[in-house]
Amino acid sequence: MKDTQISLPGTRHPDPPAPWAPFGKRTRRVRNIADLRAGALRRLPRAIADFIDGGAEDEVTLDRNRAAWAGPRFAPRILTDVTEVDLSTRVLGTDWAQPFMIGPTGAAGFLWPGGDVALARAAHDAGVPFALSTSGNISIEDLRASTEGPLWFQCYIFKQRAFSDQLIARAAAAGYETLVITVDFPVGGNRERDARNDFTMPFRYTPRIFWDFATHPQWSLSILRHGTPELANLRGFTASSDASEVASSVGRNYDAGFDWDDLARIRERWPGTLVVKGVVRPDDARRLVALGADAIVVSNHGGRQLDGGVATLDALPGVVAAVAGAVPVLVDGGIRRGSDIVKALALGASGTLLGRTTLYGLALAGPEGVSRALDILRTEVRRTMQFCGVTRISDIGPDCLAPGTYPTAHIKGDPE
Ligand SMILES: Cc1cc2nc3c(=O)[nH]c(=O)nc-3n(C[C@H](O)[C@H](O)[C@H](O)COP(=O)(O)O)c2cc1C
Repeated sequence: MKDTQISLPGTRHPDPPAPWAPFGKRTRRVRNIADLRAGALRRLPRAIADFIDGGAEDEVTLDRNRAAWAGPRFAPRILTDVTEVDLSTRVLGTDWAQPFMIGPTGAAGFLWPGGDVALARAAHDAGVPFALSTSGNISIEDLRASTEGPLWFQCYIFKQRAFSDQLIARAAAAGYETLVITVDFPVGGNRERDARNDFTMPFRYTPRIFWDFATHPQWSLSILRHGTPELANLRGFTASSDASEVASSVGRNYDAGFDWDDLARIRERWPGTLVVKGVVRPDDARRLVALGADAIVVSNHGGRQLDGGVATLDALPGVVAAVAGAVPVLVDGGIRRGSDIVKALALGASGTLLGRTTLYGLALAGPEGVSRALDILRTEVRRTMQFCGVTRISDIGPDCLAPGTYPTAHIKGDPE
């Protein structure tokens, strides 16, 4: 296949507009992430709501991810002075003000104009990194120019390897410190809700989509006013400049042949921190450490790829044991409460990524909604730590949990 030339994107800096309603109104009654989700799903057309909220096939993994966090139970330690709680931690040599960051999610611009910038700035304000997705709606360079916060770049691998190589080179040139390679995406997941809703990117205006958008005027007007977001980093992916041609050729061109040797070549070329996302097996985790990965994200793409896979919470202890402290292990999937985050840390994670949680906030109330989501989690993490009698992130361990209530999963490939 002929290598694709990329054309460098122009300089569009879509500043996320302020929420339409007076500041605070949209999130005033919001108490938790479930409230943000409910509001977001109301505001969005069905097709967009299902795109962010849904998963692959029967959504068993999606549901399992969420349900698994209810399993471990805390064994709170009493009579400890928990007046002062420090949520800060160090991950990959950088300070995080709290033990969670915003992970890579494509299509944020479809939830709120300038969605990627809103997420990145909220992460910066909260003192944590933001990961830009390959399918983000702002170019690598423009996002770098829009925030001073720490940025990671997540790269998908296309059959046109030169295109992925150039994305990685652009991220390095723009000063992104961390490259995330997502490895649970050899092919696109079978998301049946999208097909049922006639949802494609860019939109095909079938009668169903037209009706869906027409009955959600607030969202539709905002898209009309600010323009349909584009996949800004995929300009030049094909010779065609037609947006639907670009989107459909991206879908056809994920490289199912990407393997360990290819990842090793990326490791050799990428000068910064390399994070591999989408790992659930201990043997894979061990091999990634040997290959030179700097961190591992236990993830199944929020149940959007393989359905029927293991919940990330259940996979976490096996991966942590296999890695044996050599590199940090992060986790995502179904995290909707601060207590989920404390449980992840108790099971050996160094931190968590957020996917839908911050997207719900973005979809409901733009920048304000993202900050609200982060604020809710921060408050919940702090309160959970106080109940558990710990005041520093490094003090959170399995000791915070009741024996027998958390997984010590031994799936194939475990060290023992
Ligand atoms: C709408 C949406 C788009 C996503 N896009 C990407 C992506 O472009 N790259 C990636 O590595 N992961 C992507 N993910 C997966 C997230 O990074 C994360 O692994 C997942 O959302 C975690 O599960 P949770 O949403 O239940 O917390 C996406 C997830 C959602 C919901």
